[in-house]
Amino acid sequence: MKKVITYGTFDLLHYGHINILQKARELGDYLIVAISTNDFNMIKGKNCYFSYSERKKLVESIKYVDYVIPEDSWDQKINDIITLNIDVFVMGDDWKGKFDYLEEFCKVVYLPRTPDISTTKIKEDLGLTKLQV
Ligand code: CTP
Repeated sequence: MKKVITYGTFDLLHYGHINILQKARELGDYLIVAISTNDFNMIKGKNCYFSYSERKKLVESIKYVDYVIPEDSWDQKINDIITLNIDVFVMGDDWKGKFDYLEEFCKVVYLPRTPDISTTKIKEDLGLTKLQV
């Protein structure tokens, strides 16, 4: 079985998220999604609307997703890849080149982002400031 993993915050789930999860799943037979915990989002400087457990529940409900794990540090990826027997690591191409060091452990694929949509854009379009969300 070919196992794929991807990482992200997935707040205010949108069609860009669905697209990357669909494409990631098509690269293998089993898709694991590592979702940033609330504490890790603080470290990343991201202010989430939905809690980790709410985002986990949403992402778990997507038919392309087989399993969700927490992401709570920048440097857990090598350990995840080894312990979960990952074949393919996937990220959107906004991260292009950033994870090439993982090629020692598995295939690394950067998928094109869906244009014109992001969690940040949704907040901006709704006029929500960082303080409100
Ligand atoms: N992603 C994508 N296309 C988009 C938005 C996100 O392919 N239009 C991908 C990202 O490249 C990443 C994953 O979805 O691999 C999770 O991204 P995340 O940062 O949670 O979503 P964004 O909408 O980019 O959130 P933000 O605006 O807070 O950065």
